Amino acid sequence: MNDTARTIASDGFVIEPEDRRAIEHERDHYEQPQAACIEALKIVQRRHGWVPDAAIPAIAEVLGVGPADVEGVATFYSLIFRQPVGRHVILVCDSSSCFLNDYEELRDALSAELGIGFGQTTADGRFTLLPVCCLGACDRGPALMIDDCTYGPVAPGDVADLLEGFA
Ligand code: FES
Repeated sequence: MNDTARTIASDGFVIEPEDRRAIEHERDHYEQPQAACIEALKIVQRRHGWVPDAAIPAIAEVLGVGPADVEGVATFYSLIFRQPVGRHVILVCDSSSCFLNDYEELRDALSAELGIGFGQTTADGRFTLLPVCCLGACDRGPALMIDDCTYGPVAPGDVADLLEGFA
């Protein structure tokens, strides 16, 4: 396959040449190509915003692994989105430390501000709201992540101002 070739799975999903090179670069880092599954999924998600089913065999082909290997990682890892999401994804930590630090109040404030619940996307496609396990910011709970940034502690009264920064 030449350097500019696109990887097209049987059901038509296209991995852009730049992404294919990035996935191959990750693959070549590891003794076992399976170890590169998560990075490959992140590369595809960065471009498309989520990872459709059709991307799985295409990624597997580039890595030289079975589709089940890629699917297993995609299913296990909560930061890989398997359905379309909004332009910004809000992940609200519901693990123990945050739960004990007003998680429910924060969740309710987000729902009220956005008019959606967990698993939903605002009508304008701006935000998707999802629960997530520990974000590693337990000393700053209640914590949430928007796109790649972690915030905490976030008081219910901070929500409107925080969201305003995301177009
Ligand atoms: S428990 Fe919420 S960040 Fe760890």
